[in-house]
Amino acid sequence: MSKIKYELLHVDKYSKARRGRIHTPHGIIETPVFMPVGTNSTVKGLTNDQIKNIDSEIILSNAFHLFLRPGMEIMKDFEGIHNFMNWNKPLLTDSGGFQVFSLKDRKISEEGVLFRSPLDGSKIMMTPEKSMEIQQTIGSDIAMAFDECVNAKWGYEYMKDSVDRTYRWAKRSFEAHKKENQSLFGIVQGGLFSDLRQRSLEQITSIPFDGFALGGLAVGEKYQESEKVLKEFGDKLPKDKPRYIMGIGSPTMMFLSVENGMDMFDCVLPTRMGRHGTALTWNGKLNLKSAKNKFDHSPIENDCNCYACKNHTRGYINHLLKRDEMLGKTLISIHNLYFNIHLIHKMREAIENDSFLDFKKEFFSNSSYPLQ
Ligand code: GUN
Ligand code: ZN
Repeated sequence: MSKIKYELLHVDKYSKARRGRIHTPHGIIETPVFMPVGTNSTVKGLTNDQIKNIDSEIILSNAFHLFLRPGMEIMKDFEGIHNFMNWNKPLLTDSGGFQVFSLKDRKISEEGVLFRSPLDGSKIMMTPEKSMEIQQTIGSDIAMAFDECVNAKWGYEYMKDSVDRTYRWAKRSFEAHKKENQSLFGIVQGGLFSDLRQRSLEQITSIPFDGFALGGLAVGEKYQESEKVLKEFGDKLPKDKPRYIMGIGSPTMMFLSVENGMDMFDCVLPTRMGRHGTALTWNGKLNLKSAKNKFDHSPIENDCNCYACKNHTRGYINHLLKRDEMLGKTLISIHNLYFNIHLIHKMREAIENDSFLDFKKEFFSNSSYPLQ
């Protein structure tokens, strides 16, 4: 099998939540799915066995970071990221569209984005063609079109030009993409402007990409603002292709996204919070650095089946954090990813039973996560 194939298995009776399956060159992904982030060709602090043992089906990496380091010469020499990091399951790469736009010193033109290398200050031009070349060298199962991730705060006029530019870049990405055993997703932009989202959605979905993403969210907007976009546009994305919302991964945002028909999510939140000593639990967040945990013999979460909870106590993890031992960060990252992935597993079950909204209600009534 060369490109991905999407199967829609079931739609929840009382919401737009979808249960599906994606076949990729490196195996099957059940959806909805949470994708742990492995920016530098590693999910920070975890071995591949640890990633697999939390039932992760796919991880995400990043064209921009890998282009800078280790660089494409090394990536070519190792014949791609799967071989390089010895990961034999599905992997998706972001195009760099998000990362180059978070750089301060950059110039946007029709051609692409000119920026200074954060490594040595040299000038680098990132274009749709370049991003495709990089992602093809990396050899991810799913590549993303090169887009402009714009903050709604930049105003309507800027957004309008940017949406059209993202469309032209999407066409160039599609044209430049040649790799047989790699799929390519388009990214819909338009920020919080309803007419521009609609315009971008029509433009991007007119190109026969293998899947579609909503971009430009989780860039500092309010819950109600992203809710409006998801409610209006989630289910307008083609039904026969995977739908990916980029950069979200809190329980609140995952429920909202699944409810509105999205299938794929990625976020640094579980690993980043893990490194900072905060655990995600079914009751809410838990600060393991707090002295309250010192004498606590219980695991992070009582009925959690992750490695950290099966083997270690809150008291021990608190000590590791206090001593800044790297195992402490690894254990909480394992638990947090397990939490996100298994929360999605429960959502899958609920969708199959047409009880997604009941499950959502139950989840928020038992936890301190904000419903919105
Ligand atoms: N990651 C989070 N948001 C975005 C986006 O809008 N575009 C890209 N390429 N990546 C993202
Ligand atoms: Zn656990």
